[in-house]
Parts: sequence; structure tokens; C-alpha cells
Amino acid sequence: METVTSPNAQIPQLDPSNWKNDGRPVPVTRDGLKYLIAGEIRDWTGPTEQVESCPFFIENGNVVRPQLGPTPLMGEDEAIKALDAAEAAWAEGRGQWPTMTVAQRIDAMEGFVERMKSVRERVAELIMWEIGKTQSDSYKEFDRTIQYIHDTIEALKNLDRQNSGFSLEKGFLAQIRRSPFGVTLCMGPYNYPLNETFTTLIPAVIMGNPIISKLPRFGQILNAPLMEAFRDSFPPGVVNVVNGPGQDLITPIMKSGRVELLAFIGSSKTADILKKEHPHPYRLKSVLSLDAKNLAVVLPDADLDVAVPQLLAGALTFNGQRCTAIKIVFVHKSQREALLERLSEGITAMGAGLPWEPGVKLTPIADRGAADWLESLLVEAKSMGATVLNPGGGGRIANYVHPALVFPVTERMQLHQVEQFGPIIPVREYENISEVLNYAVESNFGQQVSVFGYDPKVLGPLIDVLVNQVSRVNLNVQCQRGPDTFPFTGRKASAEGTLSVADALRRFSIRSLVATDASDRNVDLVNEILAARSSNFLRTDFLF
Ligand code: G3H
Repeated sequence: METVTSPNAQIPQLDPSNWKNDGRPVPVTRDGLKYLIAGEIRDWTGPTEQVESCPFFIENGNVVRPQLGPTPLMGEDEAIKALDAAEAAWAEGRGQWPTMTVAQRIDAMEGFVERMKSVRERVAELIMWEIGKTQSDSYKEFDRTIQYIHDTIEALKNLDRQNSGFSLEKGFLAQIRRSPFGVTLCMGPYNYPLNETFTTLIPAVIMGNPIISKLPRFGQILNAPLMEAFRDSFPPGVVNVVNGPGQDLITPIMKSGRVELLAFIGSSKTADILKKEHPHPYRLKSVLSLDAKNLAVVLPDADLDVAVPQLLAGALTFNGQRCTAIKIVFVHKSQREALLERLSEGITAMGAGLPWEPGVKLTPIADRGAADWLESLLVEAKSMGATVLNPGGGGRIANYVHPALVFPVTERMQLHQVEQFGPIIPVREYENISEVLNYAVESNFGQQVSVFGYDPKVLGPLIDVLVNQVSRVNLNVQCQRGPDTFPFTGRKASAEGTLSVADALRRFSIRSLVATDASDRNVDLVNEILAARSSNFLRTDFLF
């Protein structure tokens, strides 16, 4: 039985009496057993695991955690069946989906997104129960995904319009378009189980690649309401959805060498394993979005009225479980006292509780096992001289971890280097900006940085150095992925390839061209193919 670890009646967030069962119906379902292979929704009858809700209640001093329903523990057999189905849909590039016109694929995707809209409530409800995301952020995740699909369709039309002409170079005539790679494995992360699964799946599919989607560790059942729309919108085998432990399910897929493209959002440790499992690393194309240790820099002239809310949102939105979260703060010594005081007050003012409660910003963390690890990071930092400054910081009730503002964080502490992926704000004081730059240079990660300050003479040169360390420098705003039309990538161990609405379309396809010398005979031939509309690739249709 789970216990209440560190109750604290003085801190409302840690007061067990505030974690009451409010009678919201638990969305118990067996739909999590559904999976999709070769255009068929099947009900899993093999070994299963119970999904327990991320939010919990305290009843009579005990932690009560509703069960949501079973999910499959699939293994090699289903892995290979999914692979066979995707390969059959690809049919060595001769399949219906990869040879369709762009317009036909767009039609199918438009049909899918319309169907998807009808399950908004259900999916958002399951996001809250499965991973504990707040209600507003759960709906935001769904709506952002719908918008992402619409934007992807528009971007593809635009790309197609640009590619529908011909190039004439040095006596050669060519039409240059983009074509798919083949069987693609898509794996999204548990912190955005819908959105980030779809930010690879949608561009991969719309560019003509058959995919296998392996659901994340947490946030699985919420995919079930989409299964029928996938089945009905795309030819059999184009979208296959499977679920189970990575080692049992994904290892055989990677080892088979039959995957052309790996799209993975998660830890660099897993990415390393996956890539090494493929027998032909030179052949495997990868799109990876991995760990990050984004830093925030508070300069001497920073406006704390701006910086404090941005830092709190940057570090603690979804309890810090975002790859883009601010994971360490460097503050100039002149601002240190005021900043720490205001951050501490800000944390105290943040409401914690069940995801659907109005105004709640902090919720239990999705990976229950990580709570112990976060605690160990705090224990280590304290043993090396740091203090948790905010009242109740680091206290726990089951998997609710109250944010901890930790100062001073020094180089030897794990909190200085590792991606905590949780509600801890490590703060380090600096005197000379070179200390900040050294940190950025020496870091194994290179996703984003937030800089707070207004002096153009200081900011200009700082930007010039930081853009060569990270892929996005945010001025007086928190680190973030959006707007999704912006490039999202990272240097060093943080990413491979760029994702954005438009970049993803390129990443999941390869430039392919039809070329000939511009002799009369060949020009006539090209014109005849166009007039007969006998090719889906070589054509000049205008997509509106
Ligand atoms: O977990 C990483 C996500 O890409 C973060 O996206 O900045 O919109 O929360 P976000």
C-alpha cells in the first residue's frame, strides 16, 4: 500500500485533507486492450498490466489510486505482425499509400482530423487521469494537435505548389518533389502522449510512409478513442498501433533491420539503444528529440516582474515534466536575494491538487518511480551544502512532489548537470557572465536558453555566443517548443533533425526528381505524361 510520505498541515499543498475524492467518475475502460494492425482493430488477449491513475486521493490516511483498466504487454509476435503490415502497405514503394497523389493523401488526413475532433472530451479526460496534466493543459494538448494537423496540411499544399513546376538547368529538365522513405517507427513521450506522438506520426504518414506507433510508457489508453478514425481514414497497414514494453516490442522491430526511419521523442539513453539495435546504422534515418538541461540567465538589469512568472512557468508547468522546461537558473549576485524570495513566494501561491480542480497548477507526477529519484537529488544537494528555500519544498504526498527551490547549486551536485524532469528549480549565483557561458559550452545538452535582461550591449554578444550552443535563445520569455511552426531542435545530445510543421514534412521524406535532357523528344514525352495524368509524381496540378 502506498503511504503519505511527508504530510505537512502547514502547507496546503502537502495537507492530506486537501487531497479528497471529489466523486468525479473514473473513466474505467477495457478499450486500452485495443490495438491496430493491418487495418484491423484487435482485442488483446495476452498478458496485460493495470493502468493506475496518476492522481490519487487520501482516504483515512491512505493513498487511494483508482484503476483505469488493462493495457497489453505485447511482445515479439505482435511486433513482427505490425512490421509485416507496414511493409505490406509500403510494398517496396509500390503500395497504394506511398504512390498516391499528395491531394489524395491530404483528403485522407482531412477526413481523419474531422473524426478526431469528436473524441476531444474523452481524450482530454484520459490525459488527466493517466498522466495528471491539468484540465486546461489537457485540452490545450488536444487542440494544439488538431491545429498541428491543419497546419501540416497547409504546409504540404504549399510545398507541393512550390514543387509542381519544372527546373531547367544546363540543358536538363527536372521536376523535383519529395517522396517517402518507407516503414517508420514512431515513439512519442509520456509527457505529451498525444501531441508529441502526433508531431512525428502525422508528417510521416502524410508524406506517404507506413508507420508503427508504439505508445508511451504512460498515457496509453487515451489513444484508444482514435483507433477507429485511424482504421477508417487510411489504407490497411498505413497506421499500426501497438503497446507493450520497449524491450519486448521494439527491440525485435529494430533488430529486424526492416525500419527505414526512426522517429523518437524521449531519453538519449533509449535513443542510443534503439539506434545500436539496427543492423545497418548507415541505412537508418532518425528524427530524435531528446534530453535537455535548459538554462535561464537572470542578468543584473532583469525585470523581476517579467522574469519571475516566466521562470515559474518555465520550470514548473506540468511539474517540470517538459523537455523544454527551465532546468537550472543562473542569477547575477546583485539579483540573487530578490529573485529567490520572489520565486519562493510564487511557488507557495501555486495551487496544487487534482488536475480537474479549478486553478490547479501543480499535480502529481506521471512517473511515480521518479519521485524517489527526485528526492535523492535533493538529499545529495543538501548534503553538499544546498538548502531548499521554499516552505515544504521537496515534500511529498505519494507522487505529488512539492516544488523545491534549491540554492546554492554547485558543480559537483547532480542537480547541476542532470535533467531532473520534475519540479525542482536549481539556482546558481554568478558574478561574471563567463561562468554562464562555460556552463553552456560544457553541457552535454544544447536545446534552449532563456535570458532575462534589457541591455542591448550585453545581450547582443551574449546571443552571438549562445546561438552556437543551443538552438533557441529566448529573450525575456521561458523556453518552449511553440509556436509549432517554429523550428524545434537541439544541439549535442538534445536532438537529431528539426521538427516544425514545415521541417517535419522534409524530415520524413527525401527529395526525388525526374530528370531528362531537354531534347524535343523528351520534352514531348514529359508533356504527354502530364496530359495523360498517368503519373501521380510527375504532374503539375495546383493544390488549393
Ligand atoms: O517535452 C517537450 C515538449 O516538446 C515541450 O513542448 O514547450 O510546448 O511544452 P512545450
